[in-house]
Amino acid sequence: MNILRVDSSVFAEGGVSHQLADELIAALLQPGDKVVNRDLAAEGVPHVDPARMQALGTAAADRSERQQAMVDYADAQIEQVQRADVLVIGVPMYNFSVPSVLKAWFDHIARAGVTFEYTSAGPRGLLQGKRAFVITTRGGLHRGQPSDTQVPFIRNFLAFIGISDVEVIYAEGLNMGGDQREQGLSEARQMMAAALATPA
Ligand SMILES: Cc1cc2nc3c(=O)[nH]c(=O)nc-3n(C[C@H](O)[C@H](O)[C@H](O)COP(=O)(O)O)c2cc1C
Repeated sequence: MNILRVDSSVFAEGGVSHQLADELIAALLQPGDKVVNRDLAAEGVPHVDPARMQALGTAAADRSERQQAMVDYADAQIEQVQRADVLVIGVPMYNFSVPSVLKAWFDHIARAGVTFEYTSAGPRGLLQGKRAFVITTRGGLHRGQPSDTQVPFIRNFLAFIGISDVEVIYAEGLNMGGDQREQGLSEARQMMAAALATPA
């Protein structure tokens, strides 16, 4: 099994999403499995800007060196997801959404004809047969509330590229004080155990 782990917290190893992803992968890992680690916050992810769109739209033979490097970068993001059987995504809520580096990464991965296509019946995701664990960490409480504009977005995006087997683990109330943080962590660990026990 190939596991692609994607972290996006600005707090790196100190982030709760990072710690919970460590625990999830430790529980998931079987002998022979391979884990590819990406820390998008540490690496930085370039925005898909006009120059990158132009590079993608230029025939390989006509690309400058810089344009080819841009295409190679985007291709490498897609290939990592294509090769993965399981994605583990650590995603703090930042201003009701995902960290901008994760959004930028999504923008590189959604490519017509490669990861999705439009048919007469609507869009079809081309990355089939994968499972995703999404660990979302929040300072406050948003699960199931109108303020949770993050998880519906992540689910929509993953489904759009063909990944609909998605387990979401919520760690909430982490900045609320009192015993909320401990309660949020304990509930997250219960959700993680349940998700791991759910057959793919
Ligand atoms: C830039 C930024 C924006 C944030 N926005 C929200 C938010 O909209 N809602 C919320 O509940 N918490 C918000 N938080 C708090 C984080 O979600 C919380 O601290 C979480 O634990 C961070 O995850 P991590 O520990 O995995 O890094 C924000 C934190 C930062 C740094």
